Amino acid sequence: MDLSGKVIWITGASSGIGEAITYALAKEGCKLVISSRRLEELNRVRSNISLADQDVLVLPIDLEQHQHTDEWVKAVMEKFNRIDILINNGGISQKSFALATDAAIERKIMDINYFGNVALSKAVARIMQQQKSGKIAVIASIIGKFGLPDLSTYSASKHALYGFYDSFRLELKEDNISVLIVSPGFINTNVAINSVTGDGKLVNKNSPAMENGMKTGVFARKFITALKSTKNHKYIGKKELLSVPFKTFFPNIFTA
Ligand SMILES: NC(=O)c1ccc[n+]([C@@H]2O[C@H](COP(=O)([O-])OP(=O)(O)OC[C@H]3O[C@@H](n4cnc5c(N)ncnc54)[C@H](OP(=O)(O)O)[C@@H]3O)[C@@H](O)[C@H]2O)c1
Repeated sequence: MDLSGKVIWITGASSGIGEAITYALAKEGCKLVISSRRLEELNRVRSNISLADQDVLVLPIDLEQHQHTDEWVKAVMEKFNRIDILINNGGISQKSFALATDAAIERKIMDINYFGNVALSKAVARIMQQQKSGKIAVIASIIGKFGLPDLSTYSASKHALYGFYDSFRLELKEDNISVLIVSPGFINTNVAINSVTGDGKLVNKNSPAMENGMKTGVFARKFITALKSTKNHKYIGKKELLSVPFKTFFPNIFTA
């Protein structure tokens, strides 16, 4: 698929994976909608790309407030009058045992990572249905394939994305809308720093797994290749990706 001239909406564009994908798409000559909560950070990202103003919309959104989804879609349609690709990437992680996690924080993580993500995809899919074409790419995680301590709700939210999008893909096939699930391993971003504790505080500390993770620029290049292809699913990362077949074929290792 040639991405040049396509209208592509990317959430979580203010940092990490989303920021790197934004730069890669700008080089491909796409028209971009860049979204996340922090307007200042979105403006910084916007200032780093050389597209003309008519080809970029900076649109602050808070996925937790997904009751506003239709207003966000309306803003994009007013600017570009179509949406070719949605990259549903924005999300947060956690660092807390389940028994130490408030129900309100579990709901917050699910609202952002699952309900906000899904609400946006459904609203955009309705536009794509009218266009009779489109692609939805979702950033899940290898933690959507198994669980780990400190990550129960995060892991649940990413497992839920698999269930939803594997079903949604089949439902959208006749409308010529494809769904790509991308599961990163460990990517060197601020995701651990931006994680929340069980009572909602910011962790504000990096983890060695992230520090040693794949560089975001490398991730973005591999992601763009997957986006251009007809693949339904792609893992992107380093040797940590081996944990997925290990979980499938030797599940007892994970309970030892
Ligand atoms: N890094 C990894 O190793 C890794 C591995 C697997 C999966 N992932 C997934 O990759 C995605 C991107 O994460 P990252 O690693 O790039 O971490 P990051 O640097 O912390 O970026 C997270 C992005 O999500 C946005 N975001 C957070 N809460 C939001 C909300 N309520 N509404 C809208 N946007 C929100 C943030 O922007 P604002 O703060 O401006 O809202 C930011 O742009 C996430 O879905 C994450 O789960 C990452």
